[in-house]
Amino acid sequence: MNGPREPIGVIGAGYVGLVSAAGFADLGSEVFCVDIDEAKIELLRRGEVPIYEPGLAESIERNRGRIHFSTTLDQAIGAARLLFVCVGTPPTYAGDADLSAVNAVVEAMPASANHALVMKSTVPCGTGRSIQRIFAEQGKAALAYVSCPEFLKEGSALADFLGPDRVVVGADGDSWAADAVCALYEPLGAPLVRTDVASAEMIKLAANAFLATKISFINEIANVCEETGANVLEVARGVGLDERIGPKFLSAGIGYGGSCFTKDVSALKLLAANSGYHFQLLGSVIEVNELQKRRVVAKLARHLGSLAGTRIGLLGLAFKPNTDDMRGASSLVLAARLAAEGAHVRAYDPVATEEALKVMPELDCAEDVEGALEGADAVVLVTEWPELLALDWAAAAAAMAGKVVIDGRNALDPAAVRAAGLIYEGIGVG
Ligand SMILES: NC(=O)c1ccc[n+]([C@@H]2O[C@H](COP(=O)([O-])OP(=O)(O)OC[C@H]3O[C@@H](n4cnc5c(N)ncnc54)[C@H](O)[C@@H]3O)[C@@H](O)[C@H]2O)c1
Repeated sequence: MNGPREPIGVIGAGYVGLVSAAGFADLGSEVFCVDIDEAKIELLRRGEVPIYEPGLAESIERNRGRIHFSTTLDQAIGAARLLFVCVGTPPTYAGDADLSAVNAVVEAMPASANHALVMKSTVPCGTGRSIQRIFAEQGKAALAYVSCPEFLKEGSALADFLGPDRVVVGADGDSWAADAVCALYEPLGAPLVRTDVASAEMIKLAANAFLATKISFINEIANVCEETGANVLEVARGVGLDERIGPKFLSAGIGYGGSCFTKDVSALKLLAANSGYHFQLLGSVIEVNELQKRRVVAKLARHLGSLAGTRIGLLGLAFKPNTDDMRGASSLVLAARLAAEGAHVRAYDPVATEEALKVMPELDCAEDVEGALEGADAVVLVTEWPELLALDWAAAAAAMAGKVVIDGRNALDPAAVRAAGLIYEGIGVG
């Protein structure tokens, strides 16, 4: 794309940071990308991309001359006014957002009226206000602060970044920095929500909490469908055609996962509690999700009896297709529960095996899908990777010792599975 564009700094080269760097570079900005992880920066300098995200490696390669990688902030501060913070905010043991990485960046910010910290990391509502207070205490009051939460989805992150449903820019009062951030996004033509910092922070948390609520809602409907003989696929279609509801996030399954929903829903619930409000609904959303992952174990036991000594194949590990991110993946809970019941779990994922073994080194992972099917008494589709949806079920049936197929995503063709002589069971589909 064309025209001179504002150079920017991106602090944190993870899923959000790298995608933002690539996206802004695609729009024509010079990008100065910083991460404290030396190995990661070394890889990126060599042209290798440390995460799996469709189109990202190509975009970074395309913009090689325009994206500069460093382990220190100097170059970014020297070249750019807008410093986008994209560091992680994982949950603490208490379930709140851990802001230690954000705080380290805040400490390192210059006392400069020509710079702005633009917060892309998801932070509790009130964080911006306290950071601005810290800036004032540290003699950095002139440094501007903007909240610009990110809504991309892993698996389609770059496309989401370049085609967002909306852009949210929060600043308190008149702000040259908020104007500059709006100008950066302007070519995307997305609806702009220009608001105050606290509201921008809350928009991000509320959006994730609402989506998680929608998933837990349809999962409970699926569970009731199982008791009553209705089919949740039909129900979701009929419900989702209501304009007020919409069809998205009405897919019943084995629960939501990923780094964002799990931590952001919990963080919002605790933010409310810490502020003196008991957010009852979110308590249920979280509990339903936890139970949903475990219901697969009960389904398997209904078919197999005791699970002790059985072989269970897990098809897919990543929390969703097209990512290698294992944070909060339902597969981890499922594998641990099955192991606790005495089952031997053998898993296969086309992309996420390496990440899965970092979190759960004891997991037995097959190199190909045949390895997970071989001798299995039952298999569970955990992640709807295209490769797994295209399985030859006749060959699968020949390789398996048993007949049970649990479709944890309602993504398989039940007729094809049954035609191979296997027993198909989905979630809420009778
Ligand atoms: N992953 C998503 O889908 C997504 C979507 C929207 C928002 N978010 C939010 O964006 C933020 C980043 O998420 P992510 O998934 O990209 O995290 P990530 O863990 O993939 O990346 C964070 C990066 O920050 C780096 N880092 C930590 N401290 C640093 C410091 N002081 N200076 C420079 N770099 C530092 C880490 O080394 C890491 O590479 C989180 O707050 C998350 O909630 C994530």
